Amino acid sequence: MAPQQIVLITGASRGLGRSAARHLARAGVGVIGTYQSNRAEAEAMVAEVTASGVPAVALQLDVADASTFDAFTAAVTEALNGWDVEHLHAVVHFAGYGVHAPYTETSAQQLEQMLRVHVSAPFLLTQALLPMMTTGGRILNVSSGLARFTGPGYAAYAAAKGAVEVLTRYQAAELGGRGIRVNTLVPGAIATDFGGGVVRDDADVNRAVAGAIALGRVGEPDDIGAAVPALLSDGLGWATGTRIELSGGQSL
Ligand SMILES: NC(=O)c1ccc[n+]([C@@H]2O[C@H](COP(=O)([O-])OP(=O)(O)OC[C@H]3O[C@@H](n4cnc5c(N)ncnc54)[C@H](OP(=O)(O)O)[C@@H]3O)[C@@H](O)[C@H]2O)c1
Repeated sequence: MAPQQIVLITGASRGLGRSAARHLARAGVGVIGTYQSNRAEAEAMVAEVTASGVPAVALQLDVADASTFDAFTAAVTEALNGWDVEHLHAVVHFAGYGVHAPYTETSAQQLEQMLRVHVSAPFLLTQALLPMMTTGGRILNVSSGLARFTGPGYAAYAAAKGAVEVLTRYQAAELGGRGIRVNTLVPGAIATDFGGGVVRDDADVNRAVAGAIALGRVGEPDDIGAAVPALLSDGLGWATGTRIELSGGQSL
């Protein structure tokens, strides 16, 4: 019997990471999912995944605090050992939030926090987790359509997401020799809690954004989550160092 595949998803308690956990579980893949503060939602994710008959655990992690990564990787190792699994199949970096402020009013602290969460975390956390990955391992970084087109008030967020797309290419180049492939998943506007839920809850914003999307509506979490098993599958085994945008054709 093939060993149980386990994918580590940061930010699995809500939104896109939560949907990805659900779809991976349906595909028979176990999940180590992280949350920052929303433990109840993380436990609901675990219940949902285990109901599909695959293992799951929720671990608390603030991705902005790299000083906790050693303790976190020890907890990941313990979870894998508990399931008698040797390696992580993939790491998917969904944890994150946005800052919405005009460029001229964005503070140094807001910028620094964006870079910590969206650049330092995929950079340093992936480093820490690499010893748990083997040939065939996959890493999925997460950017945003806002790194390709501009949206007023997203300079710090989008600059950080742009950096992660460059990081992906360097990771792919340097880890390819170990058989690890690294890609960037690039969602367009999706109706989640992100940004205070503005795309989902503000009818005017929702309509305006949908008007710029070829498929005529904003995305739903499952538009992204359902794609994650495919992005990690052997069928996309020849893709590395690339950005894969899932935006319904936003701002083409
Ligand atoms: N929604 C969109 O339109 C959109 C578009 C493009 C890209 N993205 C990107 O997709 C990712 C997920 O977004 P989403 O829409 O799913 O957001 P969401 O619904 O707000 O969920 C955010 C998730 O990230 C976790 N999180 C936030 N800050 C964290 C931190 N410092 N350390 C650890 N975990 C943290 C949250 O944990 P708690 O539940 O514990 O708070 C939650 O699980 C983000 O990187 C976002 O930038 C989103």
